[in-house]
Amino acid sequence: MRIAVIGTGYVGLVVGTGFSDFGNDVTCVDVDQAKVEALRRGEIPIYEPGLEELVHRNVRAGRLHFTTDLAEAVRDAKVVFIAVQTPEGEDGAADLRYVLAAARQIGEAIRDYTVVVQKSTAPVGTTDRIAEEIASVTRVPFDVVCNPEFLRQGAAVSDFLSPDRVVIGARSERARSLVAELYAPFLRKSNRILFMDPRSAELCKYAANSMLATRISFMNEIARLCEKVGADVELVRQGVAADHRIGPAFLFPGPGFGGSCFPKDIRALRATAREHGLDLAILKAVEEVNEEQKQMLLRKALRHFGDRGLDGKAFGVWGLAFKPKTDDMRGAPAIPLIEGLLGKGAKVTVHDPVAMPTARRIFGDRVLYAESPYKAAEGADALFVVTEWHEFRHPDFERLRASMKSPVIFDGRNLYDPRRLQSLGFTYHAFGRSAK
Ligand SMILES: NC(=O)c1ccc[n+]([C@@H]2O[C@H](COP(=O)([O-])OP(=O)(O)OC[C@H]3O[C@@H](n4cnc5c(N)ncnc54)[C@H](O)[C@@H]3O)[C@@H](O)[C@H]2O)c1
Repeated sequence: MRIAVIGTGYVGLVVGTGFSDFGNDVTCVDVDQAKVEALRRGEIPIYEPGLEELVHRNVRAGRLHFTTDLAEAVRDAKVVFIAVQTPEGEDGAADLRYVLAAARQIGEAIRDYTVVVQKSTAPVGTTDRIAEEIASVTRVPFDVVCNPEFLRQGAAVSDFLSPDRVVIGARSERARSLVAELYAPFLRKSNRILFMDPRSAELCKYAANSMLATRISFMNEIARLCEKVGADVELVRQGVAADHRIGPAFLFPGPGFGGSCFPKDIRALRATAREHGLDLAILKAVEEVNEEQKQMLLRKALRHFGDRGLDGKAFGVWGLAFKPKTDDMRGAPAIPLIEGLLGKGAKVTVHDPVAMPTARRIFGDRVLYAESPYKAAEGADALFVVTEWHEFRHPDFERLRASMKSPVIFDGRNLYDPRRLQSLGFTYHAFGRSAK
């Protein structure tokens, strides 16, 4: 099937490449000329495991193309996906400027019946607004379907190629079966397509992200309580996760959730609720807990070194991306931590396996960049672990201690065993852990 994907970012590139891998002819469109030119040269603008090989393979096979010419890509496509950004706008509500602009351009370009699939995360009612926008510029028949994307950055390729579920929110039978046909090859083992109306599909995505974020904030609060009462949150977490009604996912305490989705999606859902006279009390608390949690590592450092004790100190930071296996630092908890340390007069040396170029765009020469984790810790008064990359999980602690000025670790991901670190001579701060 001939497909166009509008927006070649973290979602659009994976979606377009994924569909091309199943034999479809896909054109990915972006307004960012530099991005399109890079992709045409075979350079992948983001880090996502498995993506580079998949892009190259499908480009070589002649099934995957990149362009800035939306009209040309859309003209011959049977299905057009919208995967542009929906950033936070005023009052927390989603800014639909990019989605509606893409919709209008699609409307101006279509020649025959086309199914427009809204994949960007956008509030209830957006599918209808897209339809209105398109209808205002064309008389060509079309349908708009909501098909929210649930892929996780860092595992985006495998998530897209083997999804837990595919949600298709459609009113027209013709559009519903066309989109279902596209996804059928992904779901041969079991049919996990959920058909629903567009409004339910739109809300599905927000509710899912909100639920996951709620679990994180909940465990962060439990971790705070553990510190007060002398319990170990790791044991509590295991005890909770063993209940099959609860399960283990998203129960790890940490430095606060970030990324481009959870924070903005929660605020957008709260804004939607407010427009309808509802105050989503749980999500308000989830957000408040998270904002506070992002300050926790800095607060622990201030408690350890004293209110003015960070001035002139040197700190290493392991992990900059908002989660492992991505170079994305949008909303990353490392940012407020590093800004906080710099603001208190500290010197910061950072290391991340893939997000260093992203960090350079954010911090410039205000921090030092180390080519290895050990180099980042060299001569440091303390080390902060912010992202749980595999390579940080089992370091050579002897080497680390020998190279640091003072062996102090602030572990934002609870990666290490407090007793072991104590016995190795470290002062170890984590979330909700005790060395008992
Ligand atoms: N990042 C994720 O993990 C994820 C997961 C699920 C859903 N989503 C949602 O998917 C959407 C896209 O997210 P993303 O992270 O890929 O965003 P992104 O910012 O990485 O990519 C968006 C791309 O769209 C391009 N664009 C904007 N307007 C355009 C237009 N008119 N024509 C062509 N290109 C245009 C931009 O230049 C950009 O490259 C958002 O709504 C997001 O909430 C993201």
